[in-house]
Amino acid sequence: MSEDKPNLPAVGAEHGPEHGPMQVAEPIPDPGIEPHELRITDVDPKAADRVERQVAGMFSLAGLLALGSCVAYFAIPRDSVVTFGPLSGNANNLTIGLCLGLSLFLIGAGAIQWAKKLMVDTEIAEDRHPAYTEPAKKAEIIDAFQEGVAESGFTRRKLIRRSLIGATAMLGLPAIVLLRDLGPSPGRSLYNTIWAKGIRVVNDVTLRPIKPSDLIVGQLVNAAPANLNPIQEESPVEYQNAKAKAAVIMVRIAPEKIRTTEERKNWGIDGILCYSKICTHVGCPISLYEQTTHHVLCPCHQSTFDLADGAKVIFGPAARPLPQLPLAVDAEGYIVAQSGFTEPVGPSFWERG
Ligand code: FES
Repeated sequence: MSEDKPNLPAVGAEHGPEHGPMQVAEPIPDPGIEPHELRITDVDPKAADRVERQVAGMFSLAGLLALGSCVAYFAIPRDSVVTFGPLSGNANNLTIGLCLGLSLFLIGAGAIQWAKKLMVDTEIAEDRHPAYTEPAKKAEIIDAFQEGVAESGFTRRKLIRRSLIGATAMLGLPAIVLLRDLGPSPGRSLYNTIWAKGIRVVNDVTLRPIKPSDLIVGQLVNAAPANLNPIQEESPVEYQNAKAKAAVIMVRIAPEKIRTTEERKNWGIDGILCYSKICTHVGCPISLYEQTTHHVLCPCHQSTFDLADGAKVIFGPAARPLPQLPLAVDAEGYIVAQSGFTEPVGPSFWERG
């Protein structure tokens, strides 16, 4: 401990200029470090060996439990139920949870037992020093660390070291096994939506088909393909999947404000353009339209797209424009798709490869 004393006024110089006698703080005496007491494991090598075996036993059991959680994942049917009196739960989840929980608990308990009973427990005090560390001091710290490693017995006590490494390695297995629960690969399903040539564009709330005259300049509507609803009756899950991919926005912009490419110059109808509603960043539905600038904003991370310029990204983390749906008008005057999207909708990594 440092012997330096705080620079306090001496006792007796206790008079302030106007307020009479002052209370002067006395430095708190340094209580020092209590005398070190040896543990049974410090003096009895057999006791130390016994504790070593206990710790190694906990680590080994932790490894087995981690392995047991993987076995439970495959061996216990997903729909099996276990009942304890009035309580019941899914046997698969419960067993995996118990195995992993106990495994982590045993690694923690073993580490505490190791530290309390076997590692060197001499108390030391260190004087405060400036934040800057001299190279010589750094070397000293490294030496102290290496000494600590040696004193912890990590290198010497092979049984503990190997069982701990084994247990933590086993804990990685459940993490890999549980990746299976992410579900099947989407495959190429994200390359297609249910949009196709001749499919009418309908308002996504009223489900009414839309004519060009229904939209005024500056207006934006959320829309969907007319072939979506029959799917709902057949399969609610397929309906949700199809709806999530096919959502679009349709906007009317004064034609002279639109900048487009040669390839896309026939994709709109008198300034009416249609884009995927799914942000190309990570897939949030874009929603906030600013009609004077023709910018549409994704509320998740503020990617901003210019609908008058091919929905190019003008701000934010999205990496590519919103895909555009080519439009036409059918014989009855309703807006239809000329074809499906010519590129995948959604986050841009999906179309990679
Ligand atoms: S999902 Fe749209 S900006 Fe991130």
